[in-house]
Amino acid sequence: MHVLISGGAGFIGANFVHQTLTDRPDCAVTVLDKLTYAGNLASLSDVSDRIEFVQGDVADAETVDPLVAAADLVVHFAAESHNDNSLRDPSPFVQTNLVGTFQLLEAVRRHGVRYHHISTDEVYGDLELDDPAKFTPTTPYNPSSPYSSTKAGSDLMVRAWVRSFGVQATISNCSNNYGPYQHIEKFIPRQITNLIDGVRPKLYGAGLNVRDWIHVRDHNQAVWDIIDRGEIGQTYLIGADGEMNNKQVVELILELMGHAPDDYDHVADRPGHDLRYAIDATKLRQDTGWEPQFKDFRSGLADTIAWYQANQTWWRPQKAAVEARYAAQGQ
Ligand code: NAD
Ligand code: DAU
Repeated sequence: MHVLISGGAGFIGANFVHQTLTDRPDCAVTVLDKLTYAGNLASLSDVSDRIEFVQGDVADAETVDPLVAAADLVVHFAAESHNDNSLRDPSPFVQTNLVGTFQLLEAVRRHGVRYHHISTDEVYGDLELDDPAKFTPTTPYNPSSPYSSTKAGSDLMVRAWVRSFGVQATISNCSNNYGPYQHIEKFIPRQITNLIDGVRPKLYGAGLNVRDWIHVRDHNQAVWDIIDRGEIGQTYLIGADGEMNNKQVVELILELMGHAPDDYDHVADRPGHDLRYAIDATKLRQDTGWEPQFKDFRSGLADTIAWYQANQTWWRPQKAAVEARYAAQGQ
């Protein structure tokens, strides 16, 4: 099988490339990635001789068309992915997340290629902190940020292309991922790399917002299970029952890195900050048999901390610019 992986130089995409080459050595892999600030070829350096890498834009029809035509399967990870950036400048989010998905959908329609769309639980908006409910595949879309609204729009296009044109597509909406190769603008790697640099972790607002953490390898295994056993046209929610508030996560990072539990700062909150995400993954488990393997968050987090400690050359070139951007907005 020839797989075209968009965004394969980003966090989840690079992990997906590695997992695919390990678990499915017969797959031929092409990565299409624009190498924005979030893409890093170093994340693929150990497999560079086993993949075809194309630097290009998913929103460019002429780049996309021949790559899709040569593939049996497209897995679309490429996106502008960071909420805080979307609040500063939504325009690349509209271009990549909406126009980019449109171009891929048109290409898979023309060439009759199977398509899997990677999306987020943020399309459902947020839940109250004291609400026992979780997101399900029938929860109404209600996105809060420019990022999540463009992801929601892209999901709705996929559904429309399935219904109107018979495109062979599935969609997955996953909760917050953690693990190796995550950009240090994101919550967990930002705090780990701050502590390595002797800087106190930064909690937005009171730190009570809840995220439903899943290890990136469990997410990617679910993606393959949906491709193998999911039903065309269906949406699958991916989550591993990993709800924690941000303060609890920071306290655990501090403990694992040998610091006092209150050795952090509160900083300005994110405008429109979603309160809580929580996933009910019953449909995924029942339809595909998927089960998370990284159920122990403490141990997965310890491994992730060790990865950032051991791979400082991977993240250090970005650190000063990332922190300067946060400092400019009081975070
Ligand atoms: P990331 O920001 O780490 O990586 C995105 C990648 O896409 C980068 O390599 C970047 O260079 C590339 N890219 C951006 N614009 C492009 C364009 N126009 N053309 C080609 N390539 C482009 O993101 P991530 O965290 O790995 O997220 C990957 C996908 O998973 C996204 O669709 C995101 O919405 C979704 N998702 C992420 C999470 C999470 O916790 N990180 C959870 C659920 C879903
Ligand atoms: O839920 C899935 C989503 O998870 C994905 O769709 C997004 O691509 C991904 O970035 C992530 O979005 P979040 O906004 O939840 O992730 P982020 O890492 O930016 O922040 C996680 C939580 O931590 C959130 O409540 C904001 C808070 N935070 C973040 C940073 C960077 C802090 O308290 N301090 C920080 O320094």
